[in-house]
Amino acid sequence: MKTEILPSLLAADFGRLADEIRRAEASGAEALHLDIMDAHFVPNLSFGPDVVALAARTAPGFYRNVHLMMSRPDLYLEPFAKAGAQTIQIHVEADCDIHAALKRIRVLGLKNAIVINPETPVTHLIPYLNEIDEALVMTVHPGYGGQKFIGECLEKVTALRRMHPELDVMVDGGVNAETAVQAARAGANQFVAGSYLFRQADMKAAVDAMRAEVAA
Ligand code: DX5
Ligand code: ZN
Repeated sequence: MKTEILPSLLAADFGRLADEIRRAEASGAEALHLDIMDAHFVPNLSFGPDVVALAARTAPGFYRNVHLMMSRPDLYLEPFAKAGAQTIQIHVEADCDIHAALKRIRVLGLKNAIVINPETPVTHLIPYLNEIDEALVMTVHPGYGGQKFIGECLEKVTALRRMHPELDVMVDGGVNAETAVQAARAGANQFVAGSYLFRQADMKAAVDAMRAEVAA
């Protein structure tokens, strides 16, 4: 399976956002991960479609993976699609018709993904496995960058890989050089890393090393 590394813009220096987007693109990472928080589904606010549009303008060729930590993602699919999202990820715990929202994302011409929180059993994803492009297993409780990786969540990665060998399985939260390897052994092939990658003086070296280590 293809390996993908996704720097999470949440950990960037917001005073130099365009430069940070260019730095992430120049690292050779496959995609930029953009975290949208609504202060309801998670206890924090981040940014909205304007920042996705900034990424699209600043680095048009750098794939945009948009993670909606929102209670009502269904109400915001169009604005994020219009802003330049290319994959939209919605939580299985969201308060909307998940089947309909996943379908709508595809009708908008984008890839879709379902996200699962640490406390939610993997069985909750079963009804959606044939209608998604990827599954994102949270390895922290969403809401903040810089938290500690929850290793127990990897059991869900293994279960998904077993149920659906061809599915792209992503991990997000507390991912660094060591935890990425644990996630890869469990079956993940896509790795979001925020604070670990953005704090690097040489992001490209860290992305190259992570890609080599998870593929080994
Ligand atoms: C957590 C977000 C993550 C976050 C990861 O709520 O969904 O994408 O930016 O940050 P790190 O890699 O610092 O844990
Ligand atoms: Zn995220």
